[in-house]
Amino acid sequence: MADDTSSAVEPTVYPPSAESTARSVTPATVYDDARSDRLGYWAEQARKLHWDAPFESVLDWSRAPFAKWFADGSINVSYNCLDRHVIAGNGDRVALHWEGEPGDSRSITYAELTAEVKRAANLLTALGVRQGDRVAIYLPLIPEAVVAMLAVARIGAVHSVVFGGFSAESLRARIDDAEAKLVITADGGYRKGRISSLKPAVDAALEGSAGTVEHVLVVHRAWDDGAELAWEHGRDLWWHDEMAQVDADHEARAFEAENPLFILYTSGTTGKPKGILHTSGGYLTQASTTHRQVFDLHPESDVYWCTADIGWITGHSYVVYGPLANGATQVIYEGTPDTPHPGRWWELIQKYGVTIFYTAPTAIRSFMKAGREIPESFDLSSLRILGSVGEPINPEAWRWYRQVIGADTTPIVDTWWQTETGGIMISPLPGITATKPGAAQTPIPGITAAVVDDSGTPLEEGAGLLAITEPWPGMLRGIWGDPDRFVETYWSKFADVEGGPWYFAGDGARLDGDGDIWLLGRVDDVMNVSGHRLSTAEIESSLVDHRWVAEAAVVGASDETTGQAVVAFVIVKKRHRQTATEEGVDELRHHVASQIGAIARPRNIYIVDELPKTRSGKIMRRLLRDLAEGREVGDTTTLADTTVMQVISDSVGGD
Ligand code: WT7
Repeated sequence: MADDTSSAVEPTVYPPSAESTARSVTPATVYDDARSDRLGYWAEQARKLHWDAPFESVLDWSRAPFAKWFADGSINVSYNCLDRHVIAGNGDRVALHWEGEPGDSRSITYAELTAEVKRAANLLTALGVRQGDRVAIYLPLIPEAVVAMLAVARIGAVHSVVFGGFSAESLRARIDDAEAKLVITADGGYRKGRISSLKPAVDAALEGSAGTVEHVLVVHRAWDDGAELAWEHGRDLWWHDEMAQVDADHEARAFEAENPLFILYTSGTTGKPKGILHTSGGYLTQASTTHRQVFDLHPESDVYWCTADIGWITGHSYVVYGPLANGATQVIYEGTPDTPHPGRWWELIQKYGVTIFYTAPTAIRSFMKAGREIPESFDLSSLRILGSVGEPINPEAWRWYRQVIGADTTPIVDTWWQTETGGIMISPLPGITATKPGAAQTPIPGITAAVVDDSGTPLEEGAGLLAITEPWPGMLRGIWGDPDRFVETYWSKFADVEGGPWYFAGDGARLDGDGDIWLLGRVDDVMNVSGHRLSTAEIESSLVDHRWVAEAAVVGASDETTGQAVVAFVIVKKRHRQTATEEGVDELRHHVASQIGAIARPRNIYIVDELPKTRSGKIMRRLLRDLAEGREVGDTTTLADTTVMQVISDSVGGD
């Protein structure tokens, strides 16, 4: 690393300061309270929300793994994030300080946000969207994205947000799988100093889609005046025109707690993304509780900033639902961290006086590389708590984050969770936990986890698999349209343990002598690139789809900045060998980026003559990973042809 902060002796544990303990919103007794009556504890958290009909039943696990939380209660998620705060007298509090990449900005109060969402709810209703209907949202990080999500939630419909960096094809697959009725998009957004268009991708996606989409609502954000914006009359509508025509008033009606709230697609071990389904009451309970506890939120004084895009679960739980349910004031930023200058994020922290900052290790590592002079030239003294999410944070990056960004005083919360868990599961609590660089440490109150061996036996200490041993309120309720895959993927591995089924997270973990959990990365064929989940199978099928390619194998190789990087090994069809060699691998890299999205673009593609396979034909990715990471290749005895690794490594070496 260019910016080495390690001195001779670094503490291994950072106890909470007296000050952070004194101001903590959560008393240290919370762990014992939750342990002595776990369901009572969650019921108490849930009652901090507004319920139109209170619940009696906390958890129904009789049809495990299909859970119901607070099933006989009814609630409106959007009301809890908006009207409730206005009614409590906090209408003038800023909900969103939005900053566009070019430097335009808007501060929106709770009263204003509520008013916009009411209109948008009326608009959706006018367009025929009803309870249970699916709405795809494909937007940049602009206030309308938040408005759209809350409006869908308000009328009991289901949103499926698709990250704006995904390709038209990925968008189409998601629209079709969910049978979306409406798409909400923008003409474009700003990224890296340029306009990045979105509406053309929607047009391309809808061409050849299954045809469930009736309307496309288009927010006017950014359009290159020189280009023509295609418009399908009758189908395409401008957001601002339609919003101006609907009623300003809208009364939120309550829905049952298990009413679906959203579907969010994530990569699994096969080529087909999984539509992770979340519902209302339990999800909102966990999102708001964890947001309050893990970030020690004082809504009247804190300025919170989570840098995630709304296209990911972090954006759902910790930009939209958690913070807004808690009445927080937050910053949202449309663009990239280094546009127009490498200190943009630190400038925003200074500008808005951000007190709580939540980002990903990959970002921290790239700032480390750029050097501490950049953050040091801004006033970051407002910061009080720093968070990390998305992948393991290496102790070196953890210490840099605390020392350079946090003035060596801020607690760091390393939060482990997943799209499937809905909210944070394992994390220190500021003011309570003595933190350890590199460890997510302990399950939050009300959550139970274990590190187990392959048969599900809990370990006292050492490395194994992470299991969640009791259902939790924010848990996924299923995979959209595929209950068998839901059971198989998450609940079959530890189905027969005593007290099971337990949830299999897909992560390796180590339990240390103090009982703290260290996450070790995925144990399946899922990669983690810059904190984003990618499937090896999905990228392989994209490569094989290219006319040159006969076979492909993809692995996640460790990368200093992005955690892991996509590395592909490709066998080219004989008749295309010449072209493939001449035109290089750029064409293939581009093909993957345009089919899936830029985040999936392989860092390296090696053209090889063979792939390492077992006698049953299974590709041994472990060996390819050894090669991609420059290690000595491991045990090859189960290969059908043991000489093949030598052949591959010769061709890789000659790349
Ligand atoms: C996977 C889930 C949680 C929102 C962002 C990613 C990895 C996540 C941590 C952490 C170590 C982590 C795991 C997990 N992961 N947070 N603090 N320490 N690993 O959500 O795309 O669903 O990915 O991200 O491997 O399984 P996701």
